Amino acid sequence: MSPKSESPSTLAKSVDATILAVRQETPNVKTLTFDLSLDPKAGQYLMAWIRGLDEIPMGFSGPREITVHEVGQATKALANFEPGRSLGLRGPLGNSFILRGDNILLIGGGVGIAPLTFLGEAAKAQDIDVTSLIGFRSSADVLFKQRLEKLGDLAITTDDGSMGIHGFASAGLKELNLGEYSQIYLCGPEPMMWDILSRSKEHSGKIQVSINRYFKCAVGVCGSCCLDHEGIRVCVEGPVIMADRLLNSEFGKYRRGPSGSRGSCRG
Ligand SMILES: Cc1cc2nc3c(=O)[nH]c(=O)nc-3n(C[C@H](O)[C@H](O)[C@H](O)COP(=O)(O)OP(=O)(O)OC[C@H]3O[C@@H](n4cnc5c(N)ncnc54)[C@H](O)[C@@H]3O)c2cc1C
Ligand code: FES
Repeated sequence: MSPKSESPSTLAKSVDATILAVRQETPNVKTLTFDLSLDPKAGQYLMAWIRGLDEIPMGFSGPREITVHEVGQATKALANFEPGRSLGLRGPLGNSFILRGDNILLIGGGVGIAPLTFLGEAAKAQDIDVTSLIGFRSSADVLFKQRLEKLGDLAITTDDGSMGIHGFASAGLKELNLGEYSQIYLCGPEPMMWDILSRSKEHSGKIQVSINRYFKCAVGVCGSCCLDHEGIRVCVEGPVIMADRLLNSEFGKYRRGPSGSRGSCRG
């Protein structure tokens, strides 16, 4: 069973929010703080309406903030918003990570660290032990190092070896005994998550994975976010899915783009 949706707000209307602060985290990642909180749980997401351009899904990196990686037109526009600018927010949407046990492990890569950091801070507030393994391309891309260091043990990997362990995030697994953790939480680029998952299948019953698919409606109607073969509608049944449901799905192999045709799961 996947974590249940705890939000009654899947039909949430867009509310008008104003940006209070913009923080540059890395050369192409910024955190935007809003003047209001949608009262999200870690793992949920919102639809950010950039008027006249697009509406895109964004996870929460804190109760009133999102962390944006500039990859295309909408994310670049969002990252260029200045304090005082308004936008529409629809949410919180989807299910959340569920905290279980007293000793958890966060494994993330890239901007996937954002919802995991929010989760880790919620866990720490409940006296849950938090260990983190985070992977990036290089030291310049490392995100939320200080926030995660405050929570507990932190291992960093970089593809080019410029910080921490040299290699992909999975290179950090040898430092850890996954059997020790009551629950494991995974979020990041899909090839990275699949790499971790395919090396830890025996633990898949306790790994909660935040999935990224192409969202249009975000209310479970259009089908653009569906995951083969079960047909899981990631926008309402996810984005957090238990790993054992993913092992025989399209996850790690392909995902559908705006037209519905199959494409790479990279991105
Ligand atoms: C539940 C959920 C939570 C998300 N949380 C965050 C977050 O916290 N921070 C963040 O920066 N991004 C997040 N994303 C991804 C974000 O929504 C996309 O990067 C964004 O929609 C791309 O729009 P664009 O117009 O900038 O790029 P596009 O012009 O649409 O695409 C540019 C490039 O990015 C790739 N791309 C497009 N859509 C996605 C996607 N959904 N995921 C990954 N790559 C994509 C394309 O393949 C293309 O190569 C999340 C996505 C989902 C589904
Ligand atoms: S985005 Fe429309 S059903 Fe999920």
